[in-house]
Amino acid sequence: MEDLVMTGANVDKAFWRGKRVFLTGHTGFKGSWLSVWLVSMGAHVTGFSLAPNTDPSLFEVLGVEHQIDTSIFGNINDLDALVKAMHASQAEIVIHMAAQPLVRYGYANPLETYTTNVLGTAHVLEAIRQMPYVRAVLVVTTDKCYENKEHGNPFQESDPMGGDDPYSSSKACAEIVTTAYRKSYFTTNQGGGRTAIATARAGNVIGGGDWSLDRLIPDAIRAFNSGEPVVIRNPLAIRPWQHVIEPLSGYLLLLENLFHHGDQFASAWNFGPQDSDTRSVSSVIELMAMRWHRPASWTLIDADQPHEAQLLRLDCGRAHDKLNWYPRWSLEVAIENISTWHRSHHEHGDMLALSLAQIAQHQSHTH
Ligand SMILES: NC(=O)c1ccc[n+]([C@@H]2O[C@H](COP(=O)([O-])OP(=O)(O)OC[C@H]3O[C@@H](n4cnc5c(N)ncnc54)[C@H](O)[C@@H]3O)[C@@H](O)[C@H]2O)c1
Repeated sequence: MEDLVMTGANVDKAFWRGKRVFLTGHTGFKGSWLSVWLVSMGAHVTGFSLAPNTDPSLFEVLGVEHQIDTSIFGNINDLDALVKAMHASQAEIVIHMAAQPLVRYGYANPLETYTTNVLGTAHVLEAIRQMPYVRAVLVVTTDKCYENKEHGNPFQESDPMGGDDPYSSSKACAEIVTTAYRKSYFTTNQGGGRTAIATARAGNVIGGGDWSLDRLIPDAIRAFNSGEPVVIRNPLAIRPWQHVIEPLSGYLLLLENLFHHGDQFASAWNFGPQDSDTRSVSSVIELMAMRWHRPASWTLIDADQPHEAQLLRLDCGRAHDKLNWYPRWSLEVAIENISTWHRSHHEHGDMLALSLAQIAQHQSHTH
């Protein structure tokens, strides 16, 4: 079947050369990928996050600490430390990705989840208010921020915020806090028009080097390696799966536009996969099993599970039309790349070189 996917715009390397970027969440999965991508384009990155909390961690595997200009282990709710670090970085661009990002952990630890995701976001925005140089800001939330009545229609950016669990609702709150800060302090008629702030809502992100608990791909790889069936909660749940490089390319394109055009782009943006990659958990396990040459067997957790949305789809028409951003890798290609990545890691390959090669391959992808 012919692949009719649009390729869209590439991230502009020349734009990023020499840019001063402050990144929260640089010790995490997405943050580590983004750090090495930014550095490869010549950006000066200051990272501010808690220390990595998985073993192994992508942060350590890629040597992020030695790649970026400054790596700080700190809590985003420590305003003094945040302001000091941001000031020292002289950042022109801030990307806020630090969060408690797990639904089930959020059920068990709601206060920590709200403190990090809501108050933490307010602290980051409060610090930005004090910064003279910041021109473009991206606050990363999630597709789970929408009020989800499971009607099956893809969410548009203008749909109401909601969330039936602590994680999802905390990200909806982060969206609302960001909008309030934008309207109160960062619009031209408030005298603050120099800083343009957007939010980004991505789908279920997968990629090499995610070792978090309670995420499908790392859980599956652990099970394949130990010869056990994959333990899953929700085989029929439908999710918008996308390789980590996809939303990161969207974030970077959006920031370029925010930097150049300001307010025009200062709003919310969806960055989801092609509609055909919004698929069930069980179909992802089957694809992975094929790649890993393992039988696609799974067992269901039988204990009562807290509610998780069954159906989530994103309408990304706005990012297509205004940013010329399109997803480039199908789920099959994403899983092939994850398999290559983890096989190489298993064989003690050069993971930084491979990760950068995957980014380059994504950027040169044509149909
Ligand atoms: N992975 C996904 O599928 C997915 C999907 C949609 C949105 N997101 C969002 O993307 C962002 C990154 O997610 P990830 O998958 O890389 O998660 P991750 O758990 O790998 O990384 C989280 C990062 O946040 C930092 N952090 C957490 N609490 C902090 C605090 N109090 N102070 C400072 N730093 C703190 C951690 O140290 C880490 O660097 C999050 O905002 C998450 O909600 C992720």
